[in-house]
Amino acid sequence: MTVQNGTFTIDSKTVDMPVKEGSIGPAVVDIAALYKNTGMFTYDPGFTSTASCESKITYIDGDKGVLLHRGYPIEQLAENGDFLETCHLLLHGELPTPAEKVDFDHRVTRHTMVHEQMMRFFQGFRRDAHPMAIMVASVGAMAAFYHDSTDISDPHQRMVASMRMIAKMPTLAAMAYKYSIGQPFVYPKNDLDYAANFLNMCFSVPCEDYKANPVLARALDKIFILHADHEQNASTSTVRLAGSSGANPFACIAAGVACLWGPAHGGANEAALKMLEEIGSVERIPEYIARAKDKNDPFRLMGFGHRVYKNYDPRARIMQKTTHEVLQELGIKDDPLLDVAMELERIALSDPYFIEKKLYPNIDFYSGITLKAMGFPTSMFTVLFAVARTVGWIAQWKEMIEDPAQKIGRPRQLYTGAPQRDYVPMIKR
Ligand code: SDX
Repeated sequence: MTVQNGTFTIDSKTVDMPVKEGSIGPAVVDIAALYKNTGMFTYDPGFTSTASCESKITYIDGDKGVLLHRGYPIEQLAENGDFLETCHLLLHGELPTPAEKVDFDHRVTRHTMVHEQMMRFFQGFRRDAHPMAIMVASVGAMAAFYHDSTDISDPHQRMVASMRMIAKMPTLAAMAYKYSIGQPFVYPKNDLDYAANFLNMCFSVPCEDYKANPVLARALDKIFILHADHEQNASTSTVRLAGSSGANPFACIAAGVACLWGPAHGGANEAALKMLEEIGSVERIPEYIARAKDKNDPFRLMGFGHRVYKNYDPRARIMQKTTHEVLQELGIKDDPLLDVAMELERIALSDPYFIEKKLYPNIDFYSGITLKAMGFPTSMFTVLFAVARTVGWIAQWKEMIEDPAQKIGRPRQLYTGAPQRDYVPMIKR
């Protein structure tokens, strides 16, 4: 078997496999004709070397620790703009003009309320339901309320559904939180910006006035920017696969929420904080480092490692800075969890095991400490990730629907089960 300049030869069969170049980053080998011409599949569990689609939205250079959204570095977006500007960029492909920004903010702000009957929908859950369970259900249930934006063939309905998702996710997330603590739901307020509105819906109570701390609101807005999109990660690939069948956008985003919940993905921020709490003190770090290295121990350092980044996750650097800003604003001097996190990071970054496996802290390593300091329970951490990632999911979903080359995703397999055999009647077993 040989592969040369885009041809693949096996058992004297040669298949043309054109190489396609991107604008930046690795080229791809188009293998679409492989099975038809050789009767063979490629095999790549976890898709470590497989590009599932062409996209113009986000680019990651894992070796250099670079993350671009429509070409703009994440550091510049986080430093200079706000989350809704990043939403406009991801959805429309360009930074908004001043007039476009005013219009986009206005449209999101005026779609933040959810159908009043959704409140009754929430009443069906146990109070101790995990907020992510409530989010999977309530996001999917939006298809039961917003029938006028489920026709995926209508560009106007696709945009309406996109704006509704961006606008209503914070409201549903805040409702899930309020329901879990037995407090009344708080309606969105149109005179608040996106992050301040979310803090108000989560932390205000009818008995007294609440004003979101502007430093915390800005920090949360930055956290939303950092989590907005990330190429073809597991949950985005889930949304694309669900969308490829023609499912409505609310069902697709609900599928993305479900996938994000896993501790290897978006659930890592909750798992990372629980790990820091379990470690408890700097003295116990060596014990956990040893466990992380032990092949027979399933324990992994949550918040470390990444499929693509083999360098520092650029989002983690910004997250670390934001963590210190929040702790300083809140007057939290010696947070024991932060002490453990900083010492764990120092040790891990100097340990040969982590160096040779290129395991660096990822965005989830610091986000949990910040969100806990802001007053969110660990069960809400992945919910906030889902709120932020909704724009990435919906932008990628729209790109796929509008791609003339798109078709239903249907991977094949390497079958290693029983060859064909005849049924054995019960009396002969
Ligand atoms: C997110 O894809 C995205 O972009 C995701 C995300 C996004 O924005 O959408 O960035 C968000 O999900 C970040 C990742 C959060 N997950 C965690 O922090 C959980 C802990 N990390 C690991 O589970 C792991 O690093 C993954 C899942 C993130 C990546 O796993 P890979 O790419 O499949 O790598 P691997 O599991 O094959 O690990 C390679 C080696 C293995 O050792 P060997 O089998 O080669 O000997 O590194 C080891 C692993 O055992 N390893 C770890 C480790 N992560 C990998 N060892 C200890 N601790 C870890 N955290």
